[in-house]
Amino acid sequence: MLLAQELSLPCGLTLPNRICKAALAENMAPANNPDEKFPKAYAEWAKGGYGLIMTGNVQVTNTYLGAPGDISVPSPATASYTATKEDWTGWATATQQHGTPAIVQLNHPGRQSPAGAGSRWLWAKNLAPSAVSLNLGPRLFDSFLSNFVFGKPRAMTVADIEGVVQMFVDGAKMAEEAGFKGVELHAAHGYLLAQFMAPSSNKRDDEFGGTAAKRVKLILLIMKAIRASTKPGFCVGIKLNSVDVSSGNSMEETLEQVRLIVEAGIDFIEISGGSYENPVMMQEHALPEPTKSARSLARESFFLKFAQSVRARFPTVLLMVTGGFRTRAGMEAALNSGGCDLIGIGRPTTVIPYLPKDIILNEQIPDADADLRLKDLPSPWYMSLAGKVIGAGAQSTYYAGQILRMGKGLKPIDTRLGVTSIKI
Ligand SMILES: Cc1cc2nc3c(=O)[nH]c(=O)nc-3n(C[C@H](O)[C@H](O)[C@H](O)COP(=O)(O)O)c2cc1C
Repeated sequence: MLLAQELSLPCGLTLPNRICKAALAENMAPANNPDEKFPKAYAEWAKGGYGLIMTGNVQVTNTYLGAPGDISVPSPATASYTATKEDWTGWATATQQHGTPAIVQLNHPGRQSPAGAGSRWLWAKNLAPSAVSLNLGPRLFDSFLSNFVFGKPRAMTVADIEGVVQMFVDGAKMAEEAGFKGVELHAAHGYLLAQFMAPSSNKRDDEFGGTAAKRVKLILLIMKAIRASTKPGFCVGIKLNSVDVSSGNSMEETLEQVRLIVEAGIDFIEISGGSYENPVMMQEHALPEPTKSARSLARESFFLKFAQSVRARFPTVLLMVTGGFRTRAGMEAALNSGGCDLIGIGRPTTVIPYLPKDIILNEQIPDADADLRLKDLPSPWYMSLAGKVIGAGAQSTYYAGQILRMGKGLKPIDTRLGVTSIKI
């Protein structure tokens, strides 16, 4: 089984197999620190036999959060820094206690920080490369969200940008000192780094905008600064979106940005897609039934096709694809296609925390039963009021609720659609 093979990253980190627990924002940190629920929840995933465990997104500043319960990186100047580092260390230790390496996903939400999420005043503007509002859709409630919950952002100054570079460095240093093996920069799903990459949200005409290369400069500066302040074996990966028309980037421009990231020395690239404007990463399972046909297996993953284009241009860069993987056969087919080296799994890990050990890598389980499909969630009544962001939000809330159960020492609610005779 290719899935069971080790993988060594350029930094020297070896992953015991090819299954990664993808980043899932826990939204269960009222004080924005990893309190006792975090080691408890992550100790469950630690028992699961993953090749890599990625934390949920950790915001690099407490001023702008993705949700009120996000973890944020404390400024090294704060009095509570040492105590917070102890919490992070407990989190890293619990997560890695059975040998799976763990890395922290670092993020800045940019214009996707809702009012009330973060320590800024309620009416303070979000930061973004340019003063371009989100466009969440045509309905009244969509424009209420765009205009009042997220609001028109303020274009960042060069000093703001330099400050953000330092915040990512502080996050990486905190992760390293706590014992995590690396970080992943979140440059997907429409957050700040993705906003810089995309011409639809980056209208700058200075050194950070105007061409594909200039739009990726912030990411390159962050990578360089993290490399300069962490030890050589520290892993630095990145999550990127597949090319999508709404970003305004063409395939060639996206591949040009990938080239610059690869040349700057990235350990792996995770491919995803979507944003609050079009949250395709949160669509429900693509396959109603498990299948054996190669074409359908390829459709199980939402973003494999783009990964294959990246692979064709950059044959040696390590690629992870996340979104839609639900069967061992689909995961093996993706690895066999040469399109990726690592399989990211999100929602099923909150329902079946030991899914590598118990199901996907368990040779006692035949392929036909190695199936992680989950029931679709019922649509909330308010779904009809606004566009897709509400549906994606409902999904996040539901699965974050499953993580909260783990954090409280409870078993997740079993919503499997696949074979339920396998004990979880
Ligand atoms: C509750 C929840 C929280 C999420 N939080 C993050 C996050 O913090 N960072 C991120 O990159 N993606 C996040 N995602 C997206 C997942 O990483 C993944 O891309 C998505 O769930 C699709 O994969 P799946 O089909 O295996 O679930 C989140 C998804 C869910 C359901």
